Amino acid sequence: MACASFTKLNAPSSQWIGQPSFAQRPGSSTRLTSRRVSLPIRAGASKDELVQTAKSIASPGRGILAIDESNATCGKRLASIGLDNTETNRQAYRQLLLTTPGLGDYISGAILFEETLYQATTDGKKFVDCLRDEKIVPGIKVDKGLVPLPGSNNESWCQGLDGLASRSAEYYKQGARFAKWRTVVSIPCGPSALAVKEAAWGLARYAAISQDNGLVPIVEPEILLDGDHPIERTLEVAEKVWSEVFYYLAQNNVIFEGILLKPSMVTPGAEHKEKASPDTIAKYTLTMLKRRVPPAVPGIMFLSGGQSEVEATLNLNAMNQSPNPWHVSFSYARALQNTVLKTWQGRPENIEAAQKALLVRAKANSLAQLGKYSAEGESEEAKKGMFVKGYTY
Ligand code: 13P
Repeated sequence: MACASFTKLNAPSSQWIGQPSFAQRPGSSTRLTSRRVSLPIRAGASKDELVQTAKSIASPGRGILAIDESNATCGKRLASIGLDNTETNRQAYRQLLLTTPGLGDYISGAILFEETLYQATTDGKKFVDCLRDEKIVPGIKVDKGLVPLPGSNNESWCQGLDGLASRSAEYYKQGARFAKWRTVVSIPCGPSALAVKEAAWGLARYAAISQDNGLVPIVEPEILLDGDHPIERTLEVAEKVWSEVFYYLAQNNVIFEGILLKPSMVTPGAEHKEKASPDTIAKYTLTMLKRRVPPAVPGIMFLSGGQSEVEATLNLNAMNQSPNPWHVSFSYARALQNTVLKTWQGRPENIEAAQKALLVRAKANSLAQLGKYSAEGESEEAKKGMFVKGYTY
């Protein structure tokens, strides 16, 4: 239900500009059509709708399938199986994923790239309708990617706030009900106070704009796995980042019941001499969450960050061995897609097997969300790590 809403727009905009609104100036007309401020299209969703969307994504035994790779990153995935990065190949790959029968048993939301949100199957069925038929909520990546942050220690910031309100309203009209914005924090680069503040502020502005347009924001400050630091250092940085994120979320009047988080798990750096067990990772990650995340937040949907498929599932399972204040689940890209892609190889005759591979991973993570997963019988392929230094999405 996208509709124009003017009531909230008037007061804050005149306050912000620091002068009376156009309608109040002597001689000005009070008709809306004569206002000089441009009126963006705006989806007027209620708080109840946001809360309902967040709750349905955070439903027991289900999590998010992230397939929002930019065209460049999707190209890298396709290149790994010898395919060209064409729109037809990207569409074919996304069709395979989004038309997997029974996917909705384990997947509650799918994050799409803008191109995919507007695409249809080769038979002409819109991808958003394929998702709805499986009771999967369509989501959309809205950030415009990372660029160098001047004045920092070789760190980056995430672009995309310009025009975000009207883009979000359009995405809502197209069927999206949640959004994703991924920014990153690098431990080996500091992180500098500037980079952390910029990441947190950008996420908070994005979250407020998303909610104002009917989209539940996924808040994702990814703390990269890069580095040789111990797990204690990751915990320290994660606590700092999340406290700043919540500080600015509150300043921007974001409704906590209508957001989802996408944190990195608290692990040692990828190049640290010792690996941590799933129990240790679960202990540190839950410690961080309990110290920093209010129970009003409905769902914590982890990213996989370059862990192997099995590692990501085992760690999630370890976190669900006792009840948590939130729904603790997954929003994996690499850890759900790796085996699928290798099974498919771009061949039509492999589609069914590739869809089965997706269901195997989705079911494993569904069991992990319920704390009932065992890695018995997992393939060697699923145990291979996928960490890439300085990974971009
Ligand atoms: P992975 O780290 O699970 O590959 O996904 C990152 C992400 O942000 C996808 O939306």
